Amino acid sequence: MVDNKPSDMLLLQNKAWSAQMRAKDPSFFELLSQSQSPKFLWIGCSDSRVPADAITGTRPGQIFVHRNIANLVVHSDLNLACVIQYAVEVLEVEHIIVCGHHGCGGVRAAMTANDFGMLNKWLRNIKDVYSDNLAELSAIDDPRQREDRLVELTVIRQTYNLMKMSTIQRAWKNRGGPWLHAWVYDLSDGILHELNNVAPGTPVPAPFSYE
Ligand code: CO
Repeated sequence: MVDNKPSDMLLLQNKAWSAQMRAKDPSFFELLSQSQSPKFLWIGCSDSRVPADAITGTRPGQIFVHRNIANLVVHSDLNLACVIQYAVEVLEVEHIIVCGHHGCGGVRAAMTANDFGMLNKWLRNIKDVYSDNLAELSAIDDPRQREDRLVELTVIRQTYNLMKMSTIQRAWKNRGGPWLHAWVYDLSDGILHELNNVAPGTPVPAPFSYE
């Protein structure tokens, strides 16, 4: 039987956190409970080592978050499509950040020929980025560097996937936003690096097409 104590610990830590926040700012929860107006949508990896608010030094209320394995933007993903529509059309976020990270287990798995069951269908999206960049990736001898580069190419591709979405195209036309960013997080030093920065209205680059 799995021990229930670790989750009790989380509840205890939550009480301490709540008290600490109220001590710093007595109206913090009262104001936040009325509404949210985050300027950022974060699409990140589910990896426990890459928590959006902790690594960006932000507080509750500042980032709207969606996370999945390997931070992928897949057009048939109804969950993500709804998150994006709500963030873009209702919250009117100004920036969408797709954040990948070096040492991503999803990317590492996609680089193998192993059978991962249901996950194969998800990892297919990363394998496609690999085949589209085969020449560049094959030229990298060091396996770790090749993996890091595939992480980066995958994050950049997700910004293209966002550009092609009708929700984004419509928002660009109607309100000149949001900006799209591809970031990569380095697990070894905790630093975020920007790989791509797409201004509203930027045409979808060849060979990608609108969807
Ligand atoms: Co990951």
